[in-house]
Amino acid sequence: ISLKPFNTFGLDKKARFFTSAGSEKDLIEALIWASHRGLDIFILGGGSNILLTQDINKLVIKNEIDGIELIKEDNDHVWVKVGSGENWHEFVKYCISRNWAGVENLSLIPGTVGASPMQNIGAYGVEIKDVFESLTAFNRSNLEFEIFDQKACQFGYRESVFKHELKGQYIITSVTYKLKKKPDFKLEYGAIKDTLKESGSNELSIKAVSDAVIKIRQSKLPDPKEIGNAGSFFKNPTILTSDWEKLKQDYPNIPGYPLKEGVKVPAAWLIEQAGWKGKTFGEIGVHKNQSLVLVNYGDGDGMDIKELSEKIQKSVFDQFNIQLNPEVNFI
Ligand code: EPU
Repeated sequence: ISLKPFNTFGLDKKARFFTSAGSEKDLIEALIWASHRGLDIFILGGGSNILLTQDINKLVIKNEIDGIELIKEDNDHVWVKVGSGENWHEFVKYCISRNWAGVENLSLIPGTVGASPMQNIGAYGVEIKDVFESLTAFNRSNLEFEIFDQKACQFGYRESVFKHELKGQYIITSVTYKLKKKPDFKLEYGAIKDTLKESGSNELSIKAVSDAVIKIRQSKLPDPKEIGNAGSFFKNPTILTSDWEKLKQDYPNIPGYPLKEGVKVPAAWLIEQAGWKGKTFGEIGVHKNQSLVLVNYGDGDGMDIKELSEKIQKSVFDQFNIQLNPEVNFI
């Protein structure tokens, strides 16, 4: 079947076999079915962080494991266990409606709950690791469910152990988040404060912060329902402070965020400087409001997007001597 409806880039690649799993039991049945046929499997979540460059000659299992359960609470916190196939933003809305704080800055991120620890999703100064308690994952080699705590996940910037050492070995089935009953607002990032002010509401609430984040995201990021995309295509590179200072002599406006390891430079700025912003090449291109987002206008091909991304990498490297690395997973 065509995977076009199942990836936010809207790429028309095929799955050899396709099924969906609404529970852990369904998942195990699908794994058995595949193993009897000697087929490999591919777990598909929201399809919002993949670039399909070819057909998938496997059993594609769409993760629809659902359920949101309050498992524990004290005076200050709630612990909520969520099925990995739940839609991330629906979960955020659920938290906001119950006044559970911690994920409001992560509003409107596409994808599923299961993908949130996989790549430590983040936006507007908050990352999943800030609210993460543990997760349950199915170990494909010993066929057991195992629990991973914060440390075992080895979270980094858009990284976790599941993208590296344990790649492909585990299937995340649920995630437990620790949320706050009293909000601890994170408003320092970018346009949040200004957007809150513009909205005219004097009362600060997690709903107001969520609405502000939604407004900012909608103003710069294309809606995948209208234009195919997978959010930021590259990660923001961190370079040596000395290299950043050298670049600053030639590019006095270069933005940079100091970190322990060096300076983080917005990839979007580098791509814009290299002249790619808003450029269209047939059916694909670089978004006009956010140069970090590559887009498919309709009938684009994954291979062409891959080639475009390589050209962008090369031109940024030639101009700034900075290597951009993709955030999106190439399939
Ligand atoms: N900028 C440009 N040109 C542009 C857009 C941005 O020069 O076309 C520069 C500006 O200096 C701006 C800075 O880049 O101040 C940062 O831009 P923005 O706030 O849009 O964030 P980003 O670094 O481009 C990151 C995440 C996003 C996340 C936002 C907000 C990564 C790879 N991306 O983008 O996450 O929503 O911050 O926190 O870290 C995603 O991962 O898919 C994603 C969308």
